Amino acid sequence: MLPNFSKEEIMSLDLGLKGKTAVITGGAAGIGNETAEFFLKQGANVVLADLNPEVNNIAKEMGGDKAIGVAGNVCDAEYRQHVIEEGVKAFGQIDVLVNCAGIVALESAEIISEDFWNRTININLSASFFMAQAVGKYMIDNGVKGSIVNIASQAGVIALDKHVAYCAAKGGIIAMTKVMAMEWGKYGIRVNAVAPTVVLTALGHKAWDGPVGDAFKKEIPAERFAEPEEIAAVIAFLCSKGAAMITGHNLLIDGGYTIK
Ligand SMILES: NC(=O)c1ccc[n+]([C@@H]2O[C@H](COP(=O)([O-])OP(=O)(O)OC[C@H]3O[C@@H](n4cnc5c(N)ncnc54)[C@H](O)[C@@H]3O)[C@@H](O)[C@H]2O)c1
Repeated sequence: MLPNFSKEEIMSLDLGLKGKTAVITGGAAGIGNETAEFFLKQGANVVLADLNPEVNNIAKEMGGDKAIGVAGNVCDAEYRQHVIEEGVKAFGQIDVLVNCAGIVALESAEIISEDFWNRTININLSASFFMAQAVGKYMIDNGVKGSIVNIASQAGVIALDKHVAYCAAKGGIIAMTKVMAMEWGKYGIRVNAVAPTVVLTALGHKAWDGPVGDAFKKEIPAERFAEPEEIAAVIAFLCSKGAAMITGHNLLIDGGYTIK
């Protein structure tokens, strides 16, 4: 099994993001929330954008005056603009977008309904694109040489049973990441994606603890699933000076699952 390091060891890596401001969609829970904790530990400010009406309280509890939460739906254009305005009002500038809001819904390809397909694509792909478009336009207009990280999945590069809409959305994330990176390099904006395997968030534990998860782990060279901080640290690295030459990349964080 590949060793994993303690959460404290990972969280104490210094990636030089002090004073930067990161907008994190889906920041109230799971990978987005862990990423917010990582950025706060770096001395960055965070703007959590999430459906959860408690998101501002969650933000304040985590980061005090270095964090705000803006509740709403990333599928709504006015809300996306509102998040940027609130972030600028609170912290002066937005340097980073982490596009993390997403849902998983499973259905066999032969019976999936149009509504089910559209909902999955709308939240996981379209809203992520339009959020990146809004933040990218803000960065271009204001001369911010920022960084955008879109959360894809191993499902974006391989087939997974009952994941047809999810795989299509995540494959789309990887493709749109390349195009935005190509078009926005001239503005000094880097755009990358990360593609995790199963991540042991609260939901991940619920879905994968037990025999089905144990069988899946045997297929992963690492012989384990990912911890949320292992995704947060890679996202933060992609936003750091150490990744200055990385753009348009999809970084698999899958313990080797997709090698075969
Ligand atoms: N957990 C995994 O195993 C795993 C693996 C690979 C990729 N991912 C991807 O990582 C991202 C986060 O997943 P997670 O496991 O942390 O999920 P999660 O369910 O724990 O958290 C998702 C957060 O996004 C918010 N959200 C959902 N829809 C929203 C919307 N329309 N507008 C605003 N906020 C919304 C939710 O309220 C929630 O706080 C997703 O894009 C998911 O596809 C997860």
